[in-house]
Amino acid sequence: MRIDKYICDTINITRTQARRLISAGKVLADNVRVVSSALQIDENTSIVQLDGKILKYTKYIYIMMNKPKGVLSATMDRHTKTALDLLAQKDRYSDLFIAGRLDKDSTGFLLITNDGQFAHCLLAPKKHVAKTYEVTLAHDNFEGYKQAFEIGIKLEDGYVCKPAIFEAVSECKCLLKISEGKFHQIKRMFKTLGNEVIELKRVSIGKVDLDPQLKEGEYRRLTDEEYELFLNEINKNNS
Ligand code: URA
Repeated sequence: MRIDKYICDTINITRTQARRLISAGKVLADNVRVVSSALQIDENTSIVQLDGKILKYTKYIYIMMNKPKGVLSATMDRHTKTALDLLAQKDRYSDLFIAGRLDKDSTGFLLITNDGQFAHCLLAPKKHVAKTYEVTLAHDNFEGYKQAFEIGIKLEDGYVCKPAIFEAVSECKCLLKISEGKFHQIKRMFKTLGNEVIELKRVSIGKVDLDPQLKEGEYRRLTDEEYELFLNEINKNNS
């Protein structure tokens, strides 16, 4: 690939900016100062330095965000703030999208990436990647809930949900683990049980937990370990 493209992908700058860095003599490829933006390098093996620092080629980025209430799980909206609006300019890579939406009034773990194949695999219904939600309910009588979720809740439109794992946490609070993502699923599941969801927060996707250090509206890149956990999940369900 061209060296200017490599730099653009890796540090999310424009081609013009990358060419300026090259013209200014700030870029080395395999210890040789780069003089042409068209230089071809191998993104897997070449060692590229900018201002003396080694760059790690990153075509795709993976962001964990703690979505606040009132923000849309969308890339763009004319009237309402979206999760992508919360990203700093330097993190606004092109083609970012949200892998697994949350309702406007829900909070918690939002995965944002520009890796379509990764997101597709992670979200494919046949992969059964579980998502865990912390739910605050209007009523605290949870009698029969555990079993009802285990059997599969029948929604108002007749759809029978896949078995889910219900765990009471405290008065009016529970954890619910589901492995599918129908429209307003959790709210609708509790509605059929005669309850009402007051607060909904996604606390994990697969084996990756929302970082408790992230305040609402904050985000960070996935660690290599978290990325690996997602990959394992995708591959595990291939068989
Ligand atoms: N289920 C819902 O009802 N809302 C969400 O945001 C996520 C799951």
